[in-house]
Amino acid sequence: MVQIAVLGYGTVGSGVVEVLNTNQESINKKAGEEINIKYVLDLRDFPGDPIQEKIVHDADVILNDKEIRVVVEVMGGVEPAYTFVKRALLAGKSVCTSNKELVAKHGPELLEIAREKNINFLFEASCGGGIPIIRPLNSSLTADEIDEITGILNGTTNYILTKMSKEGLEFDDVLKDAQEKGYAERNPEADVEGYDACRKIAILSSLAFGNNVDFEEIYTEGITRITAQDILYANEMHMAVKLLASSRKVNDQFYAMVAPFLMDDSHPLYSVNGVFNAIFVHGNVLGDAMFYGSGAGKLPTASAVVADVVDAVKHLNRTVMTFWSSRKLSLSSIENAERRFFLRIPVVKLSEAQALFPGSEVVRVAELPEECALVSDQMSEKAFEEKAQKLGGVISRIRLV
Ligand code: HSE
Repeated sequence: MVQIAVLGYGTVGSGVVEVLNTNQESINKKAGEEINIKYVLDLRDFPGDPIQEKIVHDADVILNDKEIRVVVEVMGGVEPAYTFVKRALLAGKSVCTSNKELVAKHGPELLEIAREKNINFLFEASCGGGIPIIRPLNSSLTADEIDEITGILNGTTNYILTKMSKEGLEFDDVLKDAQEKGYAERNPEADVEGYDACRKIAILSSLAFGNNVDFEEIYTEGITRITAQDILYANEMHMAVKLLASSRKVNDQFYAMVAPFLMDDSHPLYSVNGVFNAIFVHGNVLGDAMFYGSGAGKLPTASAVVADVVDAVKHLNRTVMTFWSSRKLSLSSIENAERRFFLRIPVVKLSEAQALFPGSEVVRVAELPEECALVSDQMSEKAFEEKAQKLGGVISRIRLV
């Protein structure tokens, strides 16, 4: 029997317990061992819940118990998760976590400790919830040089954008509805400002490129400035607005960014709607691959965490994760990245705008007679910003994929 402990009995923690109970027999068979939850760490008590007999309030009980071989960390946030996880690894216990803040900030150090101790630090659930993406990058795609990862990595923002698009609603109204339904956090800043997707693309890029991508260096724009009027134009152009988290290797330069993009139905991410996530990967020998599924929520996330527990139990004395070095990966400025841009302007500025953006297409929507939009030719971010500044009066702008 392998004894494990769960740190945190919130949404994901209770999901982990539920998954282990529901599929106990098949999970034990796949792990080749009986897995038993010995402790659950939480500040609260749960009277009447069968979990109560396993609840402990002091992490030391778990960290000092030699019987515990695997620790599941599903508390979220950097502290005290980092302290507990580091101590668990140093004590020779494998750790499985869903905590993207922790992995984005301390991933290389924690992986290195796990490697020194011949144990595992696993974090499948940290990116894309229940979608397998860390394990594919770590094993199935190791023959490739990955040159692009582009994902819809945040369910909350994808739900909001989908609903704005289908129902013509404003951002604030959809956010309120999403909060009432429990899809969006009461403090939605990390989701709607793109910070959550930023941490996830930093983790995926670090794994794919082998060196550490500092999430604080990734250019990040959220969806708070996307309006119902922008969506009217998108619908008119048969396009969708998606919050994309993307990293690319172009020759020897690495680019990473998070921002809303317009895309048409030729893009594989176009049809990813609602709370679903998807990750598009391009490898130099594989070509294209896409991973799609439930990117958030109690049971999908718990499914990925428990799969990591099975992996950890199968490899109690052998590290299976690919090393991701703490050496910093230098990101190039996005200034030189070339793409097309959509910009809305007052209709009186049209001829001036056409002179500045020759070859651009004009888009009009009947509901907005006082304004129009242009879709520019391919140009660098820098050139676009300079021209837009010179023009003045730009109502909004969105990049095209
Ligand atoms: N807040 C995240 C999302 C949860 O909306 O995708 C999963 O990391």
